[in-house]
Amino acid sequence: MNTDRIQSPRRDFVKLSSAAIAGAAPLAATIPASIYAAGSDKVRVGVIGCGNRGSGAATNCLEADPSVEIVAVADALSDRVAAFTNKVHALCQKQSINSRQRVRVTPDTTFIGFDGYRKMLAMDDLDLVIITSPVTFHPLHLEATINAGKNAFMEKPAAVDPVGARRVIAAGELARQKGLAVGVGTQRRHQATYLNNHRQVADGAIGRIVSGRIWWLGGDPRVTLERIPGESDAQLMVRNWYQFVAMCGDHIVEQHVHNIDVANWFIGRPPQLALGFGGRARRALGDRYDFFSVDFDYGEGVTVHSMARQVNGCYKRVGEQLFGTEGSVWPGGKITGKGTRAPKNKKETNPYVQEHADLIQSIREGNPLNGARSVAEATLAAIMGRISAYTGQIVRWTDLTQNTKSPWYDLSLSPTPEDFETGSVKLPLDGVIPVPGTAEA
Ligand SMILES: NC(=O)c1ccc[n+]([C@@H]2O[C@H](COP(=O)([O-])OP(=O)(O)OC[C@H]3O[C@@H](n4cnc5c(N)ncnc54)[C@H](O)[C@@H]3O)[C@@H](O)[C@H]2O)c1
Repeated sequence: MNTDRIQSPRRDFVKLSSAAIAGAAPLAATIPASIYAAGSDKVRVGVIGCGNRGSGAATNCLEADPSVEIVAVADALSDRVAAFTNKVHALCQKQSINSRQRVRVTPDTTFIGFDGYRKMLAMDDLDLVIITSPVTFHPLHLEATINAGKNAFMEKPAAVDPVGARRVIAAGELARQKGLAVGVGTQRRHQATYLNNHRQVADGAIGRIVSGRIWWLGGDPRVTLERIPGESDAQLMVRNWYQFVAMCGDHIVEQHVHNIDVANWFIGRPPQLALGFGGRARRALGDRYDFFSVDFDYGEGVTVHSMARQVNGCYKRVGEQLFGTEGSVWPGGKITGKGTRAPKNKKETNPYVQEHADLIQSIREGNPLNGARSVAEATLAAIMGRISAYTGQIVRWTDLTQNTKSPWYDLSLSPTPEDFETGSVKLPLDGVIPVPGTAEA
C-alpha cells in the first residue's frame, strides 16, 4: 500500500453508486458507476504513448489483474503504434501471461497523431488510461483524462516546468472531487523494502531525520539522434524527447525525481529551497546538462545533498541514504537504529506490477489512490534544483508555488504540449545550454 491514498468519503462503492443514480450529493453523483465498463466485468484500459514504458506498463497492468484488457492506444507516431501489440505479446510471454485474448486493440480503437489522445478519451467504455507519453505532455494528458471521467495511471515525472506541475496538482484535485484515481509511476512507493523502512522510520526507528544523500549516477544511454527522413521538427523532438529540456525537464527531473520523491516521502515534506550547480562535460546533442549537484534544504535544519549525472565511464550509484538522530536508513535497503525489525514479508513483488495492482484495488474498494500531488511535489523539487543550477541562484519552493512575482513562477518551457497540436514547434539548437550567472532559467 502507499501513502498517496486520499480518504474518500466512499465506503461502499456499489451502494454509493446507487445513491448517485438516485440523485445524491454532487460529489457522489460524479463517481463513476463502476471501474468496469458498463455491463462488463473487465477493466478496459487505453494507453497514451506506446513506446518502451507504454508497452511495459500495459504488460504490468495485465499482470496486475486478470480482469484487465488493453482495448485502445493513442500515439503521435504511427510506427510506435504498429509495434505496440507485438511488444506487449513478447513481454507477456516472458512473464507467462496469456495476452492473446486480452489485448483487444482494433483499427477503430487505434488513434494516431498529436490529437489522437482526445479521440481515444471520447470512448465511452474506457475505465483506466495509462499515460506514458513524454514528460511535457503529462499535464495535458492527465487533465484531459480526468475531464473525460476516466481513472489514470501517469508515469513520472509530473511536468517539465512549474506551470505544468501545478496543472497536475489541479488535475489531481479534480480527480479527488470526481472520485477518480490517479496512479503515478514512482514505483518505490509500492516496493516492499521501501514500504517496510518507511513504516519503521515513521515509527521513530532512526529518530528525527536530519540529513541525507541521494544519487542517480549513471551513463548516457542515448548518444545519437534518431532521424527519419521527411519527419517534422515536432516528430523529431518526440522521437528523441530525452535529449531536450522542454520535453523531459533534463535528467535531474526525468530520472532523479525518483530519489527526490523518496527523500520527500521519508522526510514528510518537500524541500524549502535549493542551491546547486551543474554543467555539460561530454554531451554533444540536445540542450541538457550532464551533471547536477544540489543541496536541498527541507527547513528545520534538515538538508539533503543530491547528485545526478549521465556520463559514460564514471562511477555509478542509484539510491538514497537518510540519517536520523538515532540511526540511519538506506530506504531501499538496510536500516540501522533502535528496535528496527526485519520485514515481515521478505518477498519483494515487482513494484512496476504492484503499483497497478494497488491502483486497481483502490478503485474497486472505492478509495482511489491519488499520487498527483506527491509526484508533482517531487517534480517541483527537481525543477527547483535545475533552475538553481542553470541560473546560479538560490531557488525557493515559494518561487514555484506561491510567489507570483518570482521570475520562475510562470516558467513554461517552449514548445508547450499544446504547440504540438497547433503545429508551431521548432527544434532548439544543439549545444546551446544555460550559462549560470547569465541564464534566466
Ligand atoms: N517509472 C519508471 O521507472 C520509468 C522508466 C522509464 C520511463 N518512464 C517514464 O515513462 C514515460 C515514457 O518514457 P519511454 O521511455 O516509454 O519513452 P518512449 O519514447 O519509448 O515512448 C514515448 C511514446 O509516447 C509517444 N508520444 C509522444 N508524444 C505523444 C503525444 N503527444 N501523444 C501520444 N503519444 C505521444 C511517442 O511516440 C512514444 O511512442 C516518461 O515519462 C518516462 O519518464 C518511467
